[in-house]
Amino acid sequence: MNIIEVEHLKYAYDKNSKPAVDDVSFTIPAGKYVTLIGHNGSGKSTLAKLLSGLITHYEGKISLFGQPIEKADNAAIYALRKKMGFVFQNPDNQFVGSTVRDDIAFGLENRQVPHEEMDGFIHTYAKKVGMEDYLDQSPENLSGGQKQRVAIAGVLAMHPELVLYDEATSMLDPVGKRDILDITFHLREENPNLTVLSITHDVEEAFRSDYVLVLNAGKLVLEGTPAEVFSHTEELKKIHLDAPFFLSLKAALKAKGMEIPDEIDTEEKLEEFLCR
Ligand SMILES: Nc1ncnc2c1ncn2[C@@H]1O[C@H](COP(=O)(O)OP(=O)(O)OP(=O)(O)O)[C@@H](O)[C@H]1O
Ligand SMILES: [Mg+2]
Repeated sequence: MNIIEVEHLKYAYDKNSKPAVDDVSFTIPAGKYVTLIGHNGSGKSTLAKLLSGLITHYEGKISLFGQPIEKADNAAIYALRKKMGFVFQNPDNQFVGSTVRDDIAFGLENRQVPHEEMDGFIHTYAKKVGMEDYLDQSPENLSGGQKQRVAIAGVLAMHPELVLYDEATSMLDPVGKRDILDITFHLREENPNLTVLSITHDVEEAFRSDYVLVLNAGKLVLEGTPAEVFSHTEELKKIHLDAPFFLSLKAALKAKGMEIPDEIDTEEKLEEFLCR
């Protein structure tokens, strides 16, 4: 089943401005980790707002879990939302609880976890994101990266079937970023039906994903597996996007005459190959 289907989606913030999302169509099948990349202002967050129902007047069609949302009634939309977890670009707009504990609890209540099991679960999810020492703090008093960690814990605690991240780890340090990505990738191993759409400026994350969508000026200009998309180096450069560092390094070494086989397709393999 396709978890997200978007057909000829178009939206302009006001009548006279250029559409922020301009005739975009794509599908995301169940169980895929899809990344959406594009430089600032290319329409990524607008697309996230359209998919999450924050923007409701648009042209085109959006189907979630096989159901066209234009035709769904409020009860059906409510049921769909319970299966979806969002982490938005600005974590300040995200919190529902007055403490970190309440915020994670909210996600658990959503899936009717019995009260006596709540504390254990809250601790597990807080620990996953390295925030177990902050459970009684107000989310307002946390740093940007800590807020993002709590927002992610809250969403993962919900056990959603679809996760939508809009630069959910943008404020984390490189190690934190990798840890959180590893958690999400690991959850997919536990639940192969978990579908992820992650908006990111992190090309390394895009390279690890199953499929990459590239937006530029509201239009979908490239899509495919990471290997396909990142082979279009010239097109990417034109729209101010880079290939992952190790791919650029590999290309530069090849240009200098070093023979590097095609199967060297990850950072780890390149490191191993160079250190032989
Ligand atoms: N609330 C708004 N009102 C009017 N125009 C907006 C609004 N939000 C975004 N835009 C415009 O829509 C376009 C797309 O913005 P959007 O936030 O979707 O980009 P983005 O790809 O998420 O960028 P970034 O990487 O900076 O987060 C931009 O031209 C932006 O100026
Ligand atoms: Mg954005």
